[in-house]
Amino acid sequence: MLVSVKALQFSGRALVTLARSPPLPIFRKAVPQTQTRLFMNFFKKIQDEKDPGNVDGTSLKILKYPHPLLRKENLPIEDFSDSLRNKAAQMLLVMYAANGIGLAAPQVGINERLMVFNESGDEENKDNEMILCNPIILTQSEEKWTREEGCLSFPLIEGEVERSQKIEIKYQTLEGVHQEVELEGMPARIFLHEYDHLDKVLFIDRLSERDLKLNQKRLDKYIKKYGPGAVP
Ligand code: CO
Repeated sequence: MLVSVKALQFSGRALVTLARSPPLPIFRKAVPQTQTRLFMNFFKKIQDEKDPGNVDGTSLKILKYPHPLLRKENLPIEDFSDSLRNKAAQMLLVMYAANGIGLAAPQVGINERLMVFNESGDEENKDNEMILCNPIILTQSEEKWTREEGCLSFPLIEGEVERSQKIEIKYQTLEGVHQEVELEGMPARIFLHEYDHLDKVLFIDRLSERDLKLNQKRLDKYIKKYGPGAVP
């Protein structure tokens, strides 16, 4: 499907989005960024961003901004039991169902320091699947890079965020084993986005004034729709 620029003029935001480079929000599966793809993905994105609602195998649901649990303190994980493994498995189900590549526990109403991500967004690709308990950032590179981000708790909102290119982190596995790893590029970006969630920071807090302004109307709509205390 090819669309004319005129057809996109119903939304000024669409044009701004298309004019940017790189054009695609990152918290979805990566796709080739050709010009045609770019147009197609603007529409595909709208479909992709549909909330999965009820996901088979779990009662967890993605909380939408401005749900208060997104700004609540997240407690360290102390109990490395089956119940923790169960939570992580359910978070992965929700993440894949939403076509996401990262999810933090508070986004599904669990206020604990737990995150999952998979850079590939492909649930068959277990090699890239990460489950991190009590993550800590050890170092962050001075070298930064900027790219568009989205977030499953913010349907259709996107904007550029600057993050470190390379980070060293430590965390505990589901068994409570301590690990240290270095992440670079996209995995580092995803980690930092999810880590922010665990510190009650949302990606809109990191948008430029310009990007925040571009998204403000929609954010106001969400405040009306999902206002404090609202059930998603
Ligand atoms: Co997010």
